[in-house]
Amino acid sequence: MTDFLDINTTPPEALRSIIDNALAMKSARKGQPKGTPDAEQPLANHMVALIFEKPSTRTRVSFDVGVRQLGGQTLVLSGADMQLGHGETIADTARVLSRYVDLIMIRTFEEQTLVEMAEHATVPVINGLTNRSHPCQIMADIMTFEEHSGPIKGRKVVWSGDGNNVFNSFAHAAGQFGFDLTFTGPPTLDPEPGSLDEARSRGVNVTIERDPAKAVEGADLVVTDTWVSMHDPASARERRHNQLRAYQVNEALMARAKPDALFMHCLPAHRDDEVTSAVMDGPNSVIFDEAENRLHAQKAIMRWCLGV
Ligand code: CP
Ligand code: NVA
Repeated sequence: MTDFLDINTTPPEALRSIIDNALAMKSARKGQPKGTPDAEQPLANHMVALIFEKPSTRTRVSFDVGVRQLGGQTLVLSGADMQLGHGETIADTARVLSRYVDLIMIRTFEEQTLVEMAEHATVPVINGLTNRSHPCQIMADIMTFEEHSGPIKGRKVVWSGDGNNVFNSFAHAAGQFGFDLTFTGPPTLDPEPGSLDEARSRGVNVTIERDPAKAVEGADLVVTDTWVSMHDPASARERRHNQLRAYQVNEALMARAKPDALFMHCLPAHRDDEVTSAVMDGPNSVIFDEAENRLHAQKAIMRWCLGV
C-alpha cells in the first residue's frame, strides 16, 4: 500500500505503469455506458473517502465514477462538515478514517494537511490538489499527450501564465518523464525555484522565458491555467489579471508553436482571460480528453496505491 502524494516522490517506473494501465483500462471499456462495471473489480468490498476542502467538479465526479467502475464504494465528504483540523487534529482524523475506509483522497489548502493525513493514516492517501501541487491532473495530462502525440520524453512543453500548483506538478513530471519545460509569465508570479532545480538535476531543460512568443517556439504542448487559483485572495484578482494579460494563450500565440502542438488546460477555464475560446474550441485543443482522462488515470493510481 502506497500514498500518491506527488509526481516527484513517486518512482518513475510506477508513474509509467500507471499511465500504461490507465490507457489499457480506457481502451477496454471504450463505447460502454459509463456505469458499466469494469471486467475486473479490484476495488470490490473497498470503501473510499473523497474529502473536499475546496470546490471541485472533475476531481469529485471522476474519482466517484472511477471507484464505482472498479467495484468499490465512495463517501464524498466536505471538509467544512468535518472536524478536520479544527474540531480535532488532522492526525486523529486520519487515524479514525483509517478504521472506516480503505483509501483516502483529499483536496485541501496547505500541503502540510496532506502530509499529516498521509503520515497518520494507515491506508493510502491520494493528493487531489493542494495549494502546491495537483499530481492527478498532470498524470491525466501526460496520458492525454501520449494518446495524441506519442511519447512525451524529449518533447517541449510550454506553460504560459501563473507559476501555480498545476505548473509545479508539470515541473515534477518534467524530471520524471524526461521532457523539457519552459515557463513564461511575469517575474512576480514565478514558480517555486525548488521544483525547477529538482527537474534540472534529473537532466531536463527547464527554462524561464519572459517573452511568450519566444517561449512557445517549437512547443509540442502549450498549457495554461486560471489566473486566480482557489487559494488566491479575491483581492488579488485585478493585479493578477493586469500582470498576466500579456500571457493569454490565443491563436496568434498558438501559431508560433509547432503546427500540431496540443493545447491543454486543467479546467475550469475563464474563457477569454487566460485562453481564448477560439483556442479552447480549436483543432489543437484536447481539454475534454484531459478531463475524461482524469477518470482513467485516477483508476490506475488507486489500483497502484492499493496494489490491486
Ligand atoms: N481540474 C480539476 O481538478 O477540476 P476540478 O477543480 O473541477 O476538480
Ligand atoms: N490552479 C487551480 C487549479 C484548479 C483545478 C486552483 O488551484 O484553483
